Amino acid sequence: MPFESEVSNWKYSNFLINKKNKFSKNDILSILSKSEIDEAYRVISAWDSYSPTPLISLNKLSEKLKLNNIFYKDESKRFNLKSFKALGGAYAVEKVSKGNKEIVISTATAGNHGRSVAWGSKKLGLKCKIFISEYVSEFRAKVMRSFGADVIRVKGNYDASLKECVKQSKQNNWQIVQDVAWEDYKLVPKLTMAGYSVMMKEISEQINNEQFSHVILQAGVGGMAAGMVAGIARYLNYIPKIIVVEPESAACVLESIKSGKIEKISIKKESLMGGMSCDEVSLVPWEILKNSVSHCVTVSDNYIGKTVKSLSNSEFSEEKIVGGECSTPGIVSLIGMYNDIEIRKKINLNENSNILVFGCEGDADEELYQKLLTE
Ligand SMILES: Cc1ncc(COP(=O)(O)O)c(C=O)c1O
Repeated sequence: MPFESEVSNWKYSNFLINKKNKFSKNDILSILSKSEIDEAYRVISAWDSYSPTPLISLNKLSEKLKLNNIFYKDESKRFNLKSFKALGGAYAVEKVSKGNKEIVISTATAGNHGRSVAWGSKKLGLKCKIFISEYVSEFRAKVMRSFGADVIRVKGNYDASLKECVKQSKQNNWQIVQDVAWEDYKLVPKLTMAGYSVMMKEISEQINNEQFSHVILQAGVGGMAAGMVAGIARYLNYIPKIIVVEPESAACVLESIKSGKIEKISIKKESLMGGMSCDEVSLVPWEILKNSVSHCVTVSDNYIGKTVKSLSNSEFSEEKIVGGECSTPGIVSLIGMYNDIEIRKKINLNENSNILVFGCEGDADEELYQKLLTE
């Protein structure tokens, strides 16, 4: 089937307008401050292997959809760790350890956050304990071990791995570096979000004089989306439409925006987009997202393989892109929203639109990536 007719059938699953949408730069920067954001950039940009990841034009896709431009932030190139998560966990490890070589770092992870924490710990010569659920692939576990971490597999889902991490960390006096906030644990998740905001600093310098009309942000517990919103408040002097995309099976941000308060959802089937298969938005991200997000959209897993292949076959851009499962939902939701003429009009997707999407990860799980490419 030719590419054009193929994408014309793509659909989003759910769409929601945030009735409480009111972007307030001051409110956002009172939660994650300018100085916290600037400090993250100062520290991370001084790391040996630091260089900005590419911002790629998906010019073939924007021509097909008759949009002005679609920009894709390619995080497959982030520090050889293959995802934006490299910016968060490793930065938090550096800040909380404060040069102390004796502490032991611990975390629970769906994969990429743990890789970042393990890498950051190794860089500083710290011991590291990583808790993973039964759903995290052995491939991802192996990569974390290759950075010297002890990987502990826990029966059950992500929540179970986090509970076990908290329990053992209390017993052994390990320092938890988690990307999820809870009532008395907000500082470290804020550090991870500040780390992620480096992406927006880079983008603000890569975009030259153009302005984004729409920014589509993937969400699991919302840390990356909120970090980007904070980056928008810090680095841009205009307000694009901010759209959060989630797997249809794990729409915890959409459900919370719908009701106006944090909703814990029940996940019936884990999404293939493992890093985004989360049942509850984290506290600090929620405070940022609840008013700044203009729309929420969800997508099914059905288009993941097709998008991974199209990125790799240079059907969307001049160059080949290695984009893993969590790199796909921004593109899928954009195509789905575009194909619905009412929604297209409602959110002003037209020939003047410049859209920003995030290629959050490359082939971070090489085995899954190969499967998606070939199936
Ligand atoms: C690989 C990966 N993990 C996790 C997430 C979700 O991040 P957060 O839990 O901070 O919302 C994403 C976002 O798309 C992702 O691509």
